[in-house]
Amino acid sequence: MTQEITIRRPDDWHLHLRDGDILNEVASFTVKHFSRAIVMPNLVPPVTNGRLANEYRQRIVEAANDQRFTPLMTIYLTDNTDPSEVREAFEAGDITAAKMYPAGATTNADAGVTDVKKIYPLIDVMQSIGMPLLIHGEVVGHEYDVFDREKIFVDTILSAMHDAFPEQKIVLEHVTTADGVDFVKGASKLVAATITPHHLMVNRTTMFQGGIRPHLYCLPIAKRREHQLALRKAATSPSTKFFLGTDSAPHAEGDKQSACGCAGIFNAGTAMACYAQVFDEENALEHLERFASLNGPAFYGMPPNDDFITLRKLDAPVATPAPVGSERIHQFLPDTPVHWQVVDAS
Ligand code: NCD
Ligand code: ZN
Repeated sequence: MTQEITIRRPDDWHLHLRDGDILNEVASFTVKHFSRAIVMPNLVPPVTNGRLANEYRQRIVEAANDQRFTPLMTIYLTDNTDPSEVREAFEAGDITAAKMYPAGATTNADAGVTDVKKIYPLIDVMQSIGMPLLIHGEVVGHEYDVFDREKIFVDTILSAMHDAFPEQKIVLEHVTTADGVDFVKGASKLVAATITPHHLMVNRTTMFQGGIRPHLYCLPIAKRREHQLALRKAATSPSTKFFLGTDSAPHAEGDKQSACGCAGIFNAGTAMACYAQVFDEENALEHLERFASLNGPAFYGMPPNDDFITLRKLDAPVATPAPVGSERIHQFLPDTPVHWQVVDAS
């Protein structure tokens, strides 16, 4: 039996679009299915102020080449970010949010924040103007096991920050653990989380299925299956605190399939099919629209989109699409069958 679902057009609340040739090669994948996207600022050098954000927006708009797509810009926080500049850029509408990478936590995070206390004066300003703080929630350091880094960050740094700034809007980006989910559920309504398609579909065992799978490597790293199940439960629950953020992060094939492969999964083109597959498996298709198209705008104080997309369940599973562009960027699709496909997003 053919099954179809039509939902309001989704938005991607966590996206890496890169710059230059890669931006031009990947932008259309997002534009096809999503109306708006929170664009991550971890370029080299990073987007650290409103002027750079505006220049980057312009390059994105040109690459996207579609009036319906709106990039929502963010700035990359450093130890030295000037609170009054941030206030000005936010109030001018140049930026929608600020992204906090703990220094060294992930791809292009070297210039990030070395100690969150250093940005407490800035968070005080952000809290007063209602500006969302988007967080890569992992501690950094050789002493921390890579699989424990999110939990330790949540238990120590994030909970203290939420206590110190209870009115601050916070998004725990790409949550990967039951601990992160529990924190978000227990925190005030101003705290939310994005969930990626890959963290819903793979776990740390999948990453080593039959050999090492560099194209499933991202940060935060996929955790145990029990955490994957907690994420699936959170995403498909009626909660309004969890919403779609693909963390689509394109890297050249050569940088992934390497002696020291880098972190990041490119899923912009396959994300909606994967989310639908997961919601179907969890018997929760009726909640897909809320997760993909309603919770995010509500959190950011924006209206939902007023156009729609349609997904269809096919008899045969979809095949992994070909790598993209001159750099052969691999597209995410799990080994487990995905039967859903976007059939109308016009
Ligand atoms: C992202 C990237 O490549 O920019 N990589 C990733 O593994 N998710 C950075 C990030 O979001 O951590
Ligand atoms: Zn990311």
